[in-house]
Amino acid sequence: MNEETHVHEHPPEGASSDWTIPQNWDAYSDEEHRVWDTLFERQAKLLPGRASEAYLRGLDVLKLSKPGIPDFEELSERLMKLTGWQVVAVPGLVPDDVFFDHMANRRFVAGNFIRRADQLDYLQEPDVFHDVFGHVPMLADPRFADYLEAYGRGGLRALELGALKQLARLYWYTVEFGLIEEEEGLRIYGSGIVSSYSESQFALEDPSPNRIRFDLKRVMRTDYRIDDFQQNYFVIPSFDELLRVTVESDFAPLYAEILDQPDIAVAELVPGDDIITNGTQAYAKAKAAQM
Ligand code: PHE
Repeated sequence: MNEETHVHEHPPEGASSDWTIPQNWDAYSDEEHRVWDTLFERQAKLLPGRASEAYLRGLDVLKLSKPGIPDFEELSERLMKLTGWQVVAVPGLVPDDVFFDHMANRRFVAGNFIRRADQLDYLQEPDVFHDVFGHVPMLADPRFADYLEAYGRGGLRALELGALKQLARLYWYTVEFGLIEEEEGLRIYGSGIVSSYSESQFALEDPSPNRIRFDLKRVMRTDYRIDDFQQNYFVIPSFDELLRVTVESDFAPLYAEILDQPDIAVAELVPGDDIITNGTQAYAKAKAAQM
């Protein structure tokens, strides 16, 4: 999840000035490839009927079911033909402007390391499984591909307008933790959900979290948590509608308006919310009681 606060200012040794590094695919051990395969199998079973059509189509057309950690060059070749995106390796988190600049140029930055076999369920930093399995299938969708490119440009602009926090929330509640309402029901498309065994069930089936129809200003005012399951999920009606209210809209006046308004706390509901699930928050309450 690349939008967290970034620490370094200069690329580390061995990285290019744009912070990219070689993926070094040949260096992965058999054990590391096995970690990918284990994670892949577990998620692939869980996602039909849970993940959005666009995500499942991406998984399929990019041939991500091929065993082992994907080779970014091969993956980029497929992706390039579909939507003009590439996947490039970086050594963990990169500065915001670097992250946005890559995105604005249709380069998706991905970590090249993979979690250890004893960390299958939980990891603070985005590894290659989260970044590739979680994010890349959506990049095969032409609408989502346009959305992320525009987001990259919007990020550079938000830096100038002092609205990074507001724009990062939009990323969080769409790219990372978004839900969509499809004909058959709610589906997940956010990469933080689709790459997580437990959250891909929690986000759809658990009575705890709020599920609220997406409203741009509301989302940009809403805090989020990075340490546990979300307490709010925002539901878009379609990708076309998401693009209509983001790509085709000028955020400058919007930022000016909401920067004066109070933030909305994680589990709070506010007047005007179009609520699908009024969550019990039982999960978060039980967690808090343990502390
Ligand atoms: N339209 C936004 C702006 O004017 C940029 C943006 C596009 C942000 C798509 C997010 C997603 O800044």
